[in-house]
Amino acid sequence: MKVLVTGGAGYIGSVVAARLLEAGHRVTVLDNLSTGHRDAVPDGCAFIEGDIREQAAAALSDGVDAVMHFAAKSVVPESVARPELYWSGNVGATLALLEAMRAADVRRIVFSSTAAVYGEPEQVPIPEEAPVRPGNPYGASKAAIDAALTEHARMHGIGAVSLRYFNVAGAYGRFGERHTTETHLIPIVLQVALGERASVAVYGADYATPDGTCVRDYIHVRDLADAHLLALDGSAPGEHRVFNLGNGTGFSVREVIEVCREVTGHPIPVVPAKRRPGDPAVLVASSARARHDLGWSPQRPSLREIVADAWAFHGGEQQAAALGARAGGAA
Ligand code: UFG
Repeated sequence: MKVLVTGGAGYIGSVVAARLLEAGHRVTVLDNLSTGHRDAVPDGCAFIEGDIREQAAAALSDGVDAVMHFAAKSVVPESVARPELYWSGNVGATLALLEAMRAADVRRIVFSSTAAVYGEPEQVPIPEEAPVRPGNPYGASKAAIDAALTEHARMHGIGAVSLRYFNVAGAYGRFGERHTTETHLIPIVLQVALGERASVAVYGADYATPDGTCVRDYIHVRDLADAHLLALDGSAPGEHRVFNLGNGTGFSVREVIEVCREVTGHPIPVVPAKRRPGDPAVLVASSARARHDLGWSPQRPSLREIVADAWAFHGGEQQAAALGARAGGAA
């Protein structure tokens, strides 16, 4: 198949683009490089630099069979501070993409949705039938796109799949997470281990969870990527299918930091901090539907392996050794 990957210079998009190439698909990446990196686009992909609104029609003109849509703004605290960026950058751009798909008669789309559409859940693990009640503008923008996809499937016969990611982490070889301004827990903790930060702030220790810190369901980016390939095959004309992607196990912020200590051998100092606006206490997935309907089965559910792969991507062992040598030299 020929697949257009929007956001293929970003963390998850680059891993999926690499897996698509390995599976024998042809891939074009469309990315404006606002947060992605040109060198993250896998060799073998065609690359178009630009915005969806300006470039989608050209990118779709050349016999594209399907779109995988990752390009988005995805930082919860930023969305709380600047919601307009999320309505325009996520909802507006996706509506433009859907219009361009209609014009070019491209009838399949796999979309990066998020656990953030559920807000503070009533039921854990969260099934796809749970009410959509986002607690922040990021989740609201993705929920709006999910609703638009349902309508486009019904009205225009496209086959759409929304994959609702829980907390994606880890790396796939040279493809990993490197945001200019990092907000995600695991990379921040690894920056401490690398000597790039002095400590990690723990945002809130008074949640109704066993140790008071927020609980999340961490999923390996490679397992997540493999679900996209299954979703591509599983899309059906006129249907909008929705799947949660997680491992079904929650880890608290403190537990994540502890696993990072074990993997890196660094003490990782922590500093207590206020709650971060928009954070639900617990987000854990039921992925029973993806397992049953798509035949998806995560191969790397261990948090230790997820952190170890992220650590290897950041060159952790070499850098830690260099730091140790410098510290030894100074003593
Ligand atoms: N956290 C800290 N200190 C930090 C960074 C994060 O305590 O320096 C905490 C957060 O408050 C939260 C947890 O660690 O409780 C995880 O935070 P992340 O920023 O790593 O991830 P989020 O849960 O906020 O969001 C991620 C994605 C969203 C997605 C969500 C679904 O960024 O796109 O997972 O679970 F919607």
